[in-house]
Amino acid sequence: MKIIEVSLKDRSYPIWVKPGLLDQIPQLLASYRKRRWVVITQRSVKDMCDGTLIKTLASAGVRASTIVIPEGENAKSLSQVESMYQQLTELDCDRSTLLVAFGGGVVGDITGFLAATYLRGVDYVQVPTTLLAMIDSAIGGKTGVNLPQGKNLVGAFYQPEGVVIDPNLVESLPHREMVSAMAEMLKYGAIRDRNFFDRVSENLDSIVLREDDTMLTEAIARCCEIKAEVVSRDEQEKDLRRILNFGHTIGHALETTMGFGVLKHGEAVAYGMILAGSISRDLGHLSDEDFYHLESAVRKLPLPELGEIDSSSLLETVKRDKKAKGGKLHFVLLQGLGHAIISDQVVDRHIIRALASL
Ligand code: GLY
Repeated sequence: MKIIEVSLKDRSYPIWVKPGLLDQIPQLLASYRKRRWVVITQRSVKDMCDGTLIKTLASAGVRASTIVIPEGENAKSLSQVESMYQQLTELDCDRSTLLVAFGGGVVGDITGFLAATYLRGVDYVQVPTTLLAMIDSAIGGKTGVNLPQGKNLVGAFYQPEGVVIDPNLVESLPHREMVSAMAEMLKYGAIRDRNFFDRVSENLDSIVLREDDTMLTEAIARCCEIKAEVVSRDEQEKDLRRILNFGHTIGHALETTMGFGVLKHGEAVAYGMILAGSISRDLGHLSDEDFYHLESAVRKLPLPELGEIDSSSLLETVKRDKKAKGGKLHFVLLQGLGHAIISDQVVDRHIIRALASL
């Protein structure tokens, strides 16, 4: 089993990675066994949750209840959180309750927020069931919900007690979800580890098609290591953690301009990485060779066609984002493949040129 520590200022917590690990949860979390557990899950994974986690907990004699939230991003709302607070009080949950997030990013984010705020804070554990959640959202303690005005506008940094990653859980994941997560996997290599970038790029198909479970497990673990290292050095995204947003600035703008749901998050990030790479080259940070290497790896992913992009509305969205972040646009660029930097030198014409060359 691979154990990766997320070392924070005042404490650290483990990320456990191993196929079949779900069966070992009562042993992994033995010190929490006497407490009441509340598992938060979503309809689409409820059967998987019942057949694995809940069954294992029952046979280990752990007192566990389940709260099921609706599907989709809309479930990440304050009204949903309010209903969950009520369900926790109805279950007589006190401060010793352990919340367990069993699901993808939506379940993880809302459970983390619930844990941060119910009775001023209870412990929680992340059990991600999607590849994207395994390598990104379940790690690092970003929790939150959406407002009608935008995504993740209410939240807290609140770290879990641990993250249990069982790569077998991605078996039933739709192909497009796997592809979308692969963009984030390539991202880790692009920003921090060129060798890993090459390994993922060379084995892209076998990872997506789950032909090589060892490779999948190793790749998940490497992403977790990179994220753990970055979060350990900058938990609250004051500087270094921003590099995790490589491809996200234009990626988010593409998602908004094209209308939410047209592109999956990872697909938008994939295009965002090509565009950020192109801007890095324009500014003299990335060689032609490295740029083509980045672009050809990302384009191995079966991405939907972008069609005509209205560059002025895309720029508007980037600017709105900038305003929401205190007027500063922290653009993540590459100073060579495998090394990210933050730049405030990116202006409209760089973005327009990059879009034109797509
Ligand atoms: N998903 C980026 C971060 O956790 O900082």
